[in-house]
Amino acid sequence: MRITSLPLLSLATSLVGLTAALPHADPETVLRRQSKNQEKADAVKEAFQHAWKGYTKYAFPHDELRPVSNGYGDSRNGWGASAVDALSTAIIMGDTDAVNTILDFIPKIDFTKTSEEVSLFETTIRYLAGMLSGYDLLTGPASNLVRKSDQVDELLSQSKKLANVLKFAFDTPSGVPHNNLNITGRRTDGSSTNGLAVTGTLVLEWTRLSDLTGDDEYAKLSQKAQSYLLDPKPSSGEPFPGLVGSSINIKTGEFADGMVSWDGGDDSFYEYLIKMYVYDPKRFEKYKDRWVLAAQSTIKHLQAHPKPRPDLTFLSSYNNGKKYLSSQHLTCFDGGSFLLGGSVLDRQEFIDFGLELVHGCEATYNQTLTKIGPDSWGWDPEKVPNDQKDFYERAGFYISSGNYVLRPEVIESFYYAHRITGKEIVSYRDWVWNAFVAINATCRTDSGFAAITNVNTAHGGSKDDSQESFLYAEVLKYAYLAHAEDAPWQVQEGDKNAFVYNTEAHPMRVVRS
Ligand SMILES: *[C@@H]1O[C@H](CO)[C@@H](O)[C@H](O)[C@H]1NC(C)=O
Ligand SMILES: *[C@@H]1O[C@H](CO)[C@@H](O)[C@H](O)[C@H]1NC(C)=O
Ligand SMILES: *[C@@H]1O[C@H](CO)[C@@H](O)[C@H](O)[C@H]1NC(C)=O
Repeated sequence: MRITSLPLLSLATSLVGLTAALPHADPETVLRRQSKNQEKADAVKEAFQHAWKGYTKYAFPHDELRPVSNGYGDSRNGWGASAVDALSTAIIMGDTDAVNTILDFIPKIDFTKTSEEVSLFETTIRYLAGMLSGYDLLTGPASNLVRKSDQVDELLSQSKKLANVLKFAFDTPSGVPHNNLNITGRRTDGSSTNGLAVTGTLVLEWTRLSDLTGDDEYAKLSQKAQSYLLDPKPSSGEPFPGLVGSSINIKTGEFADGMVSWDGGDDSFYEYLIKMYVYDPKRFEKYKDRWVLAAQSTIKHLQAHPKPRPDLTFLSSYNNGKKYLSSQHLTCFDGGSFLLGGSVLDRQEFIDFGLELVHGCEATYNQTLTKIGPDSWGWDPEKVPNDQKDFYERAGFYISSGNYVLRPEVIESFYYAHRITGKEIVSYRDWVWNAFVAINATCRTDSGFAAITNVNTAHGGSKDDSQESFLYAEVLKYAYLAHAEDAPWQVQEGDKNAFVYNTEAHPMRVVRS
């Protein structure tokens, strides 16, 4: 059955077995390792502060820095996306000055005004989550960083104001929201369907807002929308148990297709199923059951192994009886999701498969010239580009989009692998470090970090004048956390998590019974 995956599976299993078998390192070795890791965490913090300085000098309070021209952009409604997205990372790194600069700024944002269309999804995962996470951390384990305590309360009142601006999106016949909003005219773009990820990646943030304010309206809106994704109709919308289509009819709540993947557009729906259970196992048991079904069907129907490199595992996508042999950098959150689910539910088969996915994603990094992975790749023997035949035979995949736009998913899954396979196994942390060093060497500019055009040429081809706010929220946070000391906000094994990370890497405090 899964013959081709056995080499890695047994490797993964033996690695996990090794954790228990390792003799205790002597205290001096432990100390040396700790100070080495502290140095590495400090190097990641240096990168954050470099990019923060560039942003405050050239772009703040606009949404993002243009890291090549030292200009600015406003692609997220002009509310200061990079500042809000950077808050929880600045907190975790203990950068008191950055934290208080952002706390001074957030009460001044006017969320009722923008000249641009607003994405419900992007606004939820970056702004709403950034503020809620800041509130959870600063009223909890990081309260020592705050200079003016009333500004912490403002994080919650601004969150509520923002949600009140956005909530008309859910005012549809089914309760499935529209994603693209004109908030000044209180109109939507009128589309008839909404995507799986943009519908199914709101429930953590909107539920957290209700739990913190005691006003259950937000939780109800997001959970009603989610209910159609948990009980998919018609049956063509669920080709395999737990794996659902990619768009939903806004009028009826029914699935409009049966296209299945863990790629961009679908991805974080699956991510949030298990994270809701981590957030509150009492209320979200059904979400967990749906994640388990999806995970089992994924192992059975979507896993794929390239012909020339059967040791590698990637996730294919599926539509109408056909498997598509391609994947994306975005998809690489998958290893982390399997590892989190496997650990929380104590299911070794999910941990093993998560590690296989992590190894596949590492292969997309370590086979390129820059040691950074491409935005998308394929392994369909029929579609190998002529100029990549040798690369395909050696690497097991060919590059379909060779750019890298500062995405976090690969480092994110390495981080989960590091936290969950045991502290004695250093290789996954080393993979985080290697990826960080490569990004720092290839993407860094005088003011920040730039997207690059080709990961498989020296110096990454050319630099794009673009630095998404998730550089601060995600890439540098996960790279830092992998090397930082244990802390209440770190991902923990089993049922010990005190925080759960939203899809933009903003940690929210879980509900404790
Ligand atoms: C939103 O609607 C208002 C009022 O109807 C209109 O003036 C404005 O141009 C619209 N904004 C966008 C981004 O379409
Ligand atoms: C490259 O990736 C593979 C997994 O696909 C891994 O086994 C190997 O250790 C990696 N090489 C390095 C140098 O990290
Ligand atoms: C990151 O890049 C800067 C600038 O080139 C360099 O000074 C620093 O040492 C690099 N950090 C690491 C960890 O390689």
